[in-house]
Amino acid sequence: MPSYDLCIVIPTLNERENIALLLEKLRFTLHDIRYEVIVVDDDSPDGTAAAVKTLSRTQSDLHVIHRIGRRGLASACIEGMLATSATYIAVMDADLQHDETVLPEMVRRIASENLDLVVGSRNIGGGSMGDFSTWRVRLSRLGRRLSGVEKHAVLTDPMSGFFVVRRTFFEQIAHRLTGIGFKILLDIVLSAQGQIRIGEVPYHFRLRQHGQSKLDLIVGLEYLELILDKFIGSYISVRFVMFCLVGAIGTVIHLLLLGGLLDLARFSFIESQASATGIVMILNYVLNNSFTYRDRRRRGTAFWFGMLTFSIACSLGGVANVLISGEAFRQGMPWPLAGITGLLFSAVWNYGVTAMTTWRRARRSAAQRAERRAQATALPESKDAEIQPSVPAIDTNR
Ligand code: GDD
Ligand code: MN
Repeated sequence: MPSYDLCIVIPTLNERENIALLLEKLRFTLHDIRYEVIVVDDDSPDGTAAAVKTLSRTQSDLHVIHRIGRRGLASACIEGMLATSATYIAVMDADLQHDETVLPEMVRRIASENLDLVVGSRNIGGGSMGDFSTWRVRLSRLGRRLSGVEKHAVLTDPMSGFFVVRRTFFEQIAHRLTGIGFKILLDIVLSAQGQIRIGEVPYHFRLRQHGQSKLDLIVGLEYLELILDKFIGSYISVRFVMFCLVGAIGTVIHLLLLGGLLDLARFSFIESQASATGIVMILNYVLNNSFTYRDRRRRGTAFWFGMLTFSIACSLGGVANVLISGEAFRQGMPWPLAGITGLLFSAVWNYGVTAMTTWRRARRSAAQRAERRAQATALPESKDAEIQPSVPAIDTNR
């Protein structure tokens, strides 16, 4: 078995048209470096994994980690990075936006200056954002300020998804990574305790040739989640905070609806309160299903069944809320305190119960899993792209 100096981890989601070209370019640029490539694909509908597997049949230094039922750029990178024993690990996008020709310089720097990390930067002399849209440039700057990363290290482009790390350094901090969202580099830097030796190499960010960017609203929210997790994650679950946030939004909407139904629609109080409760319950379910539990999102019939269990759990929580706060009030607790006690109880109850019912992770018995595996491998090779195993829900957030 050869030992590699460099492993290039490439996360992919629908990059079928880009990946082969990138691999070719790497071969051309890195001719005198011993390297391997690990592509981490999240079961791209366009068949990226199958395409790379076909190539790897003739290239022993090309590997695929084909993940099913998982999503997330950061967690994909981490998994790829943990799968190698090479001395240095590079992470780069598949879409040719990262300039592969600076890789040899990055490797030279990390080795000769004994650094932990070398980052491809668009913000130092000789680098640029290319034709990145202005809102993305602004977003990138905002993210940088928000993270407080400037305090941690000399890093001009912490949003960069293009960098090389020393494997031993990465493994030291790997257990502390959150693995949430898009910002793997930031995750690494914020997770490193003590001094971290960083170098930067400029490059020009290129335009995407094929396919689309996956950066969207959810990714923005995930970014906030990552920052939140870094600051409060060891004390309280970020998922719980998000659940409460959704609850708080629901409460505001509830009050608006209640007022509207009473004043404008001239419903009775009971009718208004009942309608508002029903609507907000559904809204909360949809929001939690889309954001708080997006990694275990329920779709199709599971969506409707989930709405049912969510409603039942939260109704019980509501009843308990009223009973507990009522009792506390009777015992002489001031009303705001009694009200908050009831609310807190139902928040914890609703979160706990829906985590175990509505968004419980699907588990299969070992026998069922073995049977599925046998079925999958029994299919002929050429059918690779058509195998659609049902999705085992695995938690991407740790
Ligand atoms: N496995 C996996 N899973 N790969 C993913 C996922 C995912 O959920 N989401 C995106 N990718 C892959 C894409 O296929 C691509 O190879 C790479 O990750 C980057 O995704 P893009 O969708 O091209 O990101 P971008 O161009 O908008 O963002 C770039 O600029 C940011 C800086 O502002 C990336 O370089 C980011 O890493 C960088 O932070
Ligand atoms: Mn891109």
